[in-house]
Formats: sequence, structure tokens, C-alpha cells
Amino acid sequence: MIRIRTFQDEDAEAVAKLVYDSFRSFLGERLGDRFEELCPQLSADHYRKTALHRTEDVETVSFVAEEDGQVVGFLQAEARAFGLGSLNLIATAPGSAGKGIGSSLFEAAYQFWTERRLRKIITSVAACNKTALAYYLRHDFVPEGYRKDHFFPGVDDIELARFLHY
Ligand SMILES: CC(C)(COP(=O)(O)OP(=O)(O)OC[C@H]1O[C@@H](n2cnc3c(N)ncnc32)[C@H](O)[C@@H]1OP(=O)(O)O)[C@@H](O)C(=O)NCCC(=O)NCCS
Repeated sequence: MIRIRTFQDEDAEAVAKLVYDSFRSFLGERLGDRFEELCPQLSADHYRKTALHRTEDVETVSFVAEEDGQVVGFLQAEARAFGLGSLNLIATAPGSAGKGIGSSLFEAAYQFWTERRLRKIITSVAACNKTALAYYLRHDFVPEGYRKDHFFPGVDDIELARFLHY
């Protein structure tokens, strides 16, 4: 059974590997030899420092999906000023796509955003990442813009927004 819970420091090693493996699954072929240089695995410490964080006007929270004691999904969400929020990062373990893990993580983030009465959630997706684009459209994000060679040379990005109504 899949359980969604808030990130804990002990998850950091597993999350660092999961995010790396997950991004390699859709960018590895595209970036080829340049993947390691452009998209290296971030340290466990990076996730310990950034997964749950709060400043005066930005609150960051991260959720993990756990199955049989293993971390199989990660989502980082933010709440900002002006009723804005963002979905910073989502990744599920390669091989576990289509099992509803991403949607369960989205539900946790949705609760976080609506509790704060946010009105607009932004994110972006690589235009070549058809699975993730379908995932965002399924969760009522709409395209807002297009950025060429944005995070990586040769990889265009689609900006997306989800409006929340009360
Ligand atoms: C994108 C991702 C988070 C989706 O998570 P998931 O657990 O597979 O998603 P779910 O099982 O909850 O499916 C939700 C919706 O996503 C879409 N989807 C999921 N897998 C899909 C696939 N293989 N092909 C097409 N659409 C797919 C469907 O619209 C699905 O809705 P449906 O079940 O009603 O048809 C996951 O595939 C992933 O981590 N990919 C690699 C990392 C990544 O791309 N991150 C986003 C970077 S911007």
C-alpha cells in the first residue's frame, strides 16, 4: 500500500537517488553524454536543507510516497506571497509510473495549497516529457508560456498554471 507523508531527514539519501534516476529516465537520452554534467545527482544534504523550509514569504514543504518501507515518490511544493504557489519538483521511481503515486502526492500538495487559500499554482515541464505533460493536464494545469533552451540547452520548457477556486 502507498502511504503519503511529510519528508523526514532520514529520507534524504533515497530522495536524492530517486530524483536523479527519475530525471535520467526522461532526460538521459535527450542530453546523452551531457546528462551527468548538466543534471548531476544532488546531495542528500541538499534535500535535508531545502525540503522543509520557511522564510518570511516562502514556505516550502515536501512529501514522500512510501511503499513497503521504500521511498517511491517525492513532491516539493511552495506557498508564496500574493496567493501564488508552485509545484517545484515531482518524481516517482522509474518502473512505478501509472500506479497513482503522482496523483496521491498531488492530493497532499493540493491540501497544502488550499489550506493557505492560494489562487494560482505554477510549474513547468520539459516539452519533450510527454508523460509529465499528460500528468499536469490531468491535474488541470493549463499552458501559459514556452521557454526555449531553458534549464538545459536543447530542451524547451512549457510553463503551466493551475488556478484554484473556492
Ligand atoms: C510524471 C510523473 C510524476 C507521473 O506520476 P505517476 O505516478 O506515473 O502518475 P499517476 O499514476 O498518478 O497518473 C496520473 C496521470 O498522469 C498521466 N500519466 C501517467 N503515466 C502516464 C504514461 N505512461 N503515459 C501517459 N500518461 C501518463 C495520466 O494522465 C494519468 O492519469 P490517468 O491515470 O487518469 O490516466 C512520473 O511519471 C515521473 O516521475 N516521471 C519522471 C519524472 C518527471 O517527469 N517529473 C516531472 C518533471 S517536470
